[in-house]
Amino acid sequence: MNQYKQRCLQLHEQPQTWLITGVAGFIGSNLLETLLKLDQKVVGLDNFSTGFQHNLDEVQGLVTDGQWQRFTFIEGDIRDIDNCHQACEGVDYVLHQAALGSVPRSIEDPITTNANNITGYLNMLVAARNADVQRFVYAASSSTYGDHPDLPKVEDNIGNPLSPYAVTKLVDELYARVFARTYDFKTIGLRYFNIFGRRQDPDGAYAAVIPKWFAGLMKEEIVYINGDGETSRDFCYIDNCVQANLMGATATNDDAADQVYNVAFGERTSLNKLFNLIKERVKDNSSNVENAEPVYRDFRAGDVRHSLADISKATQLIGYEPQYSVRQGMDEAATWYINRFNS
Ligand SMILES: NC(=O)c1ccc[n+]([C@@H]2O[C@H](COP(=O)([O-])OP(=O)(O)OC[C@H]3O[C@@H](n4cnc5c(N)ncnc54)[C@H](O)[C@@H]3O)[C@@H](O)[C@H]2O)c1
Repeated sequence: MNQYKQRCLQLHEQPQTWLITGVAGFIGSNLLETLLKLDQKVVGLDNFSTGFQHNLDEVQGLVTDGQWQRFTFIEGDIRDIDNCHQACEGVDYVLHQAALGSVPRSIEDPITTNANNITGYLNMLVAARNADVQRFVYAASSSTYGDHPDLPKVEDNIGNPLSPYAVTKLVDELYARVFARTYDFKTIGLRYFNIFGRRQDPDGAYAAVIPKWFAGLMKEEIVYINGDGETSRDFCYIDNCVQANLMGATATNDDAADQVYNVAFGERTSLNKLFNLIKERVKDNSSNVENAEPVYRDFRAGDVRHSLADISKATQLIGYEPQYSVRQGMDEAATWYINRFNS
């Protein structure tokens, strides 16, 4: 049995209380689904700024009534410290996901991104420290590598941030380090690299590339590629990301905490290849997709050219072993998006 399965079994036998911030969002709702299926007690906090009630409803439909009753939802905002204190009461583990994502959004409105991603994050750190939680795991970002040219990305070698969003995620890491040093409050940062899968929002100006292209091809709309299509990313299926959160939160070795980890699959996929991966999966469901071609336009400000993670630190220190390859994850995601657009 692999380490992750073992850890899940342990949790199942000894349920804990978890707080997920951003629980109505893409990653948060997937963490909720897994934890409830493991019979954990979960508190969720969200202000529905980019999350949705329908994500929570979908999770409710996937768990038993008894499991759903172990979930308490607080509609609230991490920019309000009282909401953070209330949410942290009696909690063992915090999985802090709430933030405003998207590089372009942060370029258009850096003040709001800063308030959510730095002030809100700091509120959560203080509340979690005051509540004496066992472990605070937070969503960091691969954007922190900025203009550092090395590939694959190794945690200690970061460059200059290329967007306000990247600044906020870097500041979060700096606060985490200072909290370890100043208050002996040790955290785990997970630098996510392009996570994808069920419940990632396909709509809106700031949608991520995979859901946007599934939606575009299913609806037979134009799919745009920013740049020449050779920009590449380390796309990582959601269940790998959920695993990293659970392994990070429950890691008991002393050297695991006060660290940041890459969370990725460890393989690079160009946007041109990604387009074809999605097209292959959508073509049986949509008659004109066979002939669909992307339309190329200018590179986007703030984007890095290539991204690829070295995941060996997460493997060694928290036992992270991604179970889904990009292709396997894409199959799973396709099933979900096709169902969604056909229903
Ligand atoms: N999806 C990715 O590929 C990726 C990559 C790197 C980092 N991240 C980080 O992972 C986290 C989760 O991202 P996601 O993709 O699930 O995004 P998402 O937008 O689907 O989820 C974020 C959730 O946080 C909530 N939220 C935002 N501001 C809030 C506030 N002030 N108070 C309470 N709730 C608030 C939103 O309503 C939403 O439900 C974010 O911190 C994001 O920056 C994601």
